[in-house]
Amino acid sequence: MKNTHIRWGWPAKAFHWIMAVLIIGMAVVGTYMANFLDDMFLQIELTQRHKSFGFVVFALAVLRVLWRWANPVTPALPVLSAWERWAAHLTHYGLYVLMFVMPVSGWLMASASPLNDENAYPMQIKNMVFGVFELPDPIAPSDKGLEAVFHTIHAYSSYLMAGLLLLHVGAALKHHFVDRDGVLRRMLPWGRVE
Ligand code: HEM
Ligand code: HEM
Repeated sequence: MKNTHIRWGWPAKAFHWIMAVLIIGMAVVGTYMANFLDDMFLQIELTQRHKSFGFVVFALAVLRVLWRWANPVTPALPVLSAWERWAAHLTHYGLYVLMFVMPVSGWLMASASPLNDENAYPMQIKNMVFGVFELPDPIAPSDKGLEAVFHTIHAYSSYLMAGLLLLHVGAALKHHFVDRDGVLRRMLPWGRVE
C-alpha cells in the first residue's frame, strides 16, 4: 500500500490516474463550455457539472498531498543529468500547485460572479456541488473586478498546466520508448518493475 524505493503504492497510483482523467476532462470541457457553446442552457448545465467535479478535484488534491506527506519515500529516479532532475522536480511541483490553483480560482470566480447574486439575477445560479450542497462564498457576489481577476488566473493557469502536462507526458514517453527504463511502467495500475 505504501510507496517504497522501487514502487508506487496503490493509493499513489489511484490518486495519480483518477485525478489525471478528471483534470484533463475538466480542462477540455471547461474550454469548450466557456468558448465554443451557443446553447445557454447547455452552457449552464455543463458549468454546474464543471463546478461539482472541480470540487471533487480539490478534495482529492487535499487527500493526495496528505498521503504524500505521510509517505515521503518515493521510487528513486533513474540516473538523470542535473537539469533533467531539476526539470522533473519543477514540473511535479508545478502540477501539485496547479491542482489547488485551478479549483480555488474557479471557486472564487464563481463566488464573485453576478450570476451568483439573487439581487441581480432572480434566477440566481448557485454554486452547487452535484445539487447536494452549496459552496460557501468567500467573496460577496457581483464583484466584477474580482471575478475578472480570478477568471484570468483560472484561464492562464489552465494554459500553464497544459504546457507542464506536455513536458510531463513527453518525459514519461521518452523514459518508456527511448531510455526504456521502468519510470512509466511503475506508475501504471498493474505495472511492475522488478
Ligand atoms: C492532469 C494530469 C496529470 C497530473 C496533474 C500529473 C501529476 C503528477 C505528479 C505531481 C507526479 C509526481 C508524483 C510525486 O512524486 O509525488 C506524477 C508522476 C508521474 N506521472 Fe503524472 N500527472 C498527470 C498525467 C500523467 C500522464 C497522462 C502520464 C503518462 C503518459 C503521467 C505519467 C507519470 C509518471 C510515469 C509518473 C512517475 C514518475 C516517477 O516515477 O518518478 N502523468 N504525475
Ligand atoms: C481541476 C479543476 C478545474 C479545471 C482544470 C478547470 C478548467 C477550466 C477551463 C480550462 C476553463 C475555460 C476558461 C476560459 O477559456 O475562459 C474553465 C472555465 C470555468 N470554470 Fe473551471 N476548472 C476547474 C475547476 C473549477 C471550479 C472548482 C469552478 C467553480 C466552483 C470552476 C468554474 C468555472 C467557470 C464558472 C468557468 C466559465 C468561465 C467563463 O464563462 O468564461 N472551475 N475552467
